[in-house]
Amino acid sequence: MKRGIVPGTFDPITSGHLDIIERAAGLLDEIVVGVALSPDKGGGPLFTAGERVALIEAATAHLSNVSVRGFDTLLVDFADEVGATVILKGLRAMTDFEREFQMAALNWRLDSHVETMFIMAIPEYMYLSSSAVKEIARHGGSVKGLVPDAVYEVLPQKLSQAR
Ligand code: PNS
Repeated sequence: MKRGIVPGTFDPITSGHLDIIERAAGLLDEIVVGVALSPDKGGGPLFTAGERVALIEAATAHLSNVSVRGFDTLLVDFADEVGATVILKGLRAMTDFEREFQMAALNWRLDSHVETMFIMAIPEYMYLSSSAVKEIARHGGSVKGLVPDAVYEVLPQKLSQAR
């Protein structure tokens, strides 16, 4: 039984994230999507931790070997807690590489029993990010197809509440 983690902030989950989760679910027996509850990112998340978890659960309802959990610890400690030995991450354009390379090296230094593996984003999602999605929606552009339907339905209302 091989269990892996797909970690992230997911503020909110995009179609690119979902593609990586679906492909990860096809590679390993079980996938736990790990939602960083208090991400070290400026400004704080738009969606609450509960909302981010619920949106991922809705988007992955068709995947029987995927579960979603929040975490507020080191990623390697979360991996240990859920019994995962692999961290799976999506890799987009070159700009991701340096940050991901650093995180993979540090995670290996913290716990060399947990292996990091990367799944290349498909060209369609290579330049997609949660921040780009929020920026497009904030300016009234359509994000249809760029995010799962559950996110598409709530994003405009969430952005208007945050104004
Ligand atoms: O979606 P993101 O923001 O790129 O995800 C980053 C995340 C949550 C995977 C990363 O910040 C993380 O692993 N946070 C947990 C804290 C930790 O373990 N930090 C040490 C690794 S450098």
